[in-house]
Amino acid sequence: MKNIVILISGGGSNMAAIVKASQRDAWHDKFGARVAAVISNKASAAGLVFAAEHGLATEVLDHKAFDSREAFDAALANVIDRFDVPGQPALVVLAGFMRILTPGFVNRYQGRLLNIHPSLLPAFPGLHTHQRALDAGCQVAGATVHQVTAELDHGPILAQAVVPVLPGDSADTLAVRVLTQEHRIYPQAIADLLRKIP
Ligand code: GAR
Repeated sequence: MKNIVILISGGGSNMAAIVKASQRDAWHDKFGARVAAVISNKASAAGLVFAAEHGLATEVLDHKAFDSREAFDAALANVIDRFDVPGQPALVVLAGFMRILTPGFVNRYQGRLLNIHPSLLPAFPGLHTHQRALDAGCQVAGATVHQVTAELDHGPILAQAVVPVLPGDSADTLAVRVLTQEHRIYPQAIADLLRKIP
């Protein structure tokens, strides 16, 4: 059994989409995989409620309780590694996890650490992606699922979705259109990866 550990900081709608897809599409039977745990760096993250209601292990690790980024990431790795199965290290899925990760952490999970970012990377890494796309006059926007590398919001692209920018769009209306597509491509990209993992 391969465990999937999802890291969130907030609403967790991508996490919920992944959990629902894993159940609807029987990842357990198809890929020998299951979402095992949801970890948040914020106790107030709404997604924790959904996770608990769906029988997943939940854990809060408040980054403010640690002296350094390295110390937080080391503690985070300790929690994640509890879900490794011998011979089958866990897949680590960042879903609205709003933390910059240290190179040591990223290297430890290389090849099994995924992220979703609300822009068509390599355009607009970082924050405020939708406002920046509007300010630039983009006619399309979107989201990207990628393997995580030490450079923020970079790494091999696994999936992208494109949406139109419509007249009168605000950052909020654009975000909703993009998020709907995130919920489609993230579970799909994870399933595609699981299919390839022996
Ligand atoms: C999503 O739009 C995700 O792409 C974005 O945060 C939102 C989380 O929503 N992630 C980033 O900006 C990471 N750089 P969710 O908590 O409802 O899944």
